[in-house]
Amino acid sequence: MLNIVILLSGTGSNLAAIVKAIESQQLDARIVGVISDKALAGGLEIARSKNIPSYFIDPKASSTREQFDSIVLEHIKKLKPDVVVLAGFMRILSNDFVSALKGKLLNIHPSLLPKYKGLHTHQRVIENQDREHGCTVHFVNEELDGGAIIAQMAFERSGNENEQQLKEKVHQLEHQLYPMVLQWFAKALVKLEQDTLIVSEELRSNVEPAIRIPALNNG
Ligand code: GRF
Repeated sequence: MLNIVILLSGTGSNLAAIVKAIESQQLDARIVGVISDKALAGGLEIARSKNIPSYFIDPKASSTREQFDSIVLEHIKKLKPDVVVLAGFMRILSNDFVSALKGKLLNIHPSLLPKYKGLHTHQRVIENQDREHGCTVHFVNEELDGGAIIAQMAFERSGNENEQQLKEKVHQLEHQLYPMVLQWFAKALVKLEQDTLIVSEELRSNVEPAIRIPALNNG
């Protein structure tokens, strides 16, 4: 059983998707805590409704980013997670935080990384008239949206979608991809070694066609 801590700042639709995957037994995991830097985050509400221990940690009570991150880290350690899942946690993380959780800190990003690190990914896809768009689950390292990519899901654009439509489409894919990748962790099919993704033979020979694992060159 994989113990998961989820960090979020917003609506928490990815949290909801992970909860759903656990409830429908597609994911052998337990969410041992949800932590937010926003008191009114919808994700905290979802956590409470599911009786998941949830915590609001107020950034205003810390004088520096490093101090806030170390408080969050202490909370995380008490919850003893196997993986820490960033699901719309809208903060730049300090290096100490990232290195303390190396190899078990994951993020989902609304673009096909390495394209479009940072914000406004959908807008940039439109501006550049990209033919495809999607989402990425990756390990977190000290570089913004720069850690080893685990897996991606993509779709072909019709070409005239607006930002909101792209956002919704990407969200749909995120809700499939994150639980799936977490199940790989539950079954120990992937891990990080020296900043490189290691994929087990079992996963290598069973990747679903819709899933890209750049380390396998299957996209
Ligand atoms: C997602 O689009 C994710 O890619 C980004 O933040 C958003 C979180 O959405 N990192 P939600 O709060 O899970 O609905």
